[in-house]
Amino acid sequence: MMRNLSSMAIRCDVRAMDAPVSSERAAGRRRAIHPFAVVEVPMNEEHVHELLYQALETELGGVQIYATSVECAVNEDAREEWTKYGEETSRHVEIVQEIFAKIGLDPSVETPGRAVVRHMGESLVAAMRMALESGPPEAAELVAAECIVMAETKDHQNWELMGRLIEDGKLSKKYKDALQPAYEEVESQEDEHLYHTMGWSRELWIGWLGMPAVLPPPKEVKHVETAIGAARAEQQRKEML
Ligand SMILES: [Fe+2]
Ligand SMILES: [Fe+2]
Repeated sequence: MMRNLSSMAIRCDVRAMDAPVSSERAAGRRRAIHPFAVVEVPMNEEHVHELLYQALETELGGVQIYATSVECAVNEDAREEWTKYGEETSRHVEIVQEIFAKIGLDPSVETPGRAVVRHMGESLVAAMRMALESGPPEAAELVAAECIVMAETKDHQNWELMGRLIEDGKLSKKYKDALQPAYEEVESQEDEHLYHTMGWSRELWIGWLGMPAVLPPPKEVKHVETAIGAARAEQQRKEML
């Protein structure tokens, strides 16, 4: 969800500190730097590009991670959901590539950061393959749920950061026009990918440990798309047993 950053910023309100003072003294106070004042820094275009390279690599890795997770799924609902999320992730690859085209950025450029993201994605696929080869199918399914949560944590943050850039207002029109429609199409899906799969991971583990599990998990039932909503749904899971 797009967040109102102004409500999160800590600002120094000089009026609140003032007893009546002379206008000269008041002006001096307004110039003073408060220890919690927000410091404005110009947008660093190279760092924005790095976020986009990492976002593209995250989505490319996500396609491979979902393809492997579907092989690991035992629960039919999990297989169906991870298939759907894989299809959405393939679309996310196209959407990020469209951002690159709109701002004139070469998507084939390698950066150290995207190499790290690719390495992590390949490691998650390797972890699922290891589980498929060495353990019972239900254990591989647990590993798959955890791998998706790890990958989606990064994916979710990438898009949250793009939303913050749009809201911050320093982006040039070219960047904003490229990012805004992409963000609006993708962001709620990223909420669902992360929070629903966290629910799958928890409930599959609870069932694996021999306790009553809610499957599909509460977040799946309630279509939760925020961290607060996910926490509320988790608290209500006992009513669903
Ligand atoms: Fe994505
Ligand atoms: Fe995702």
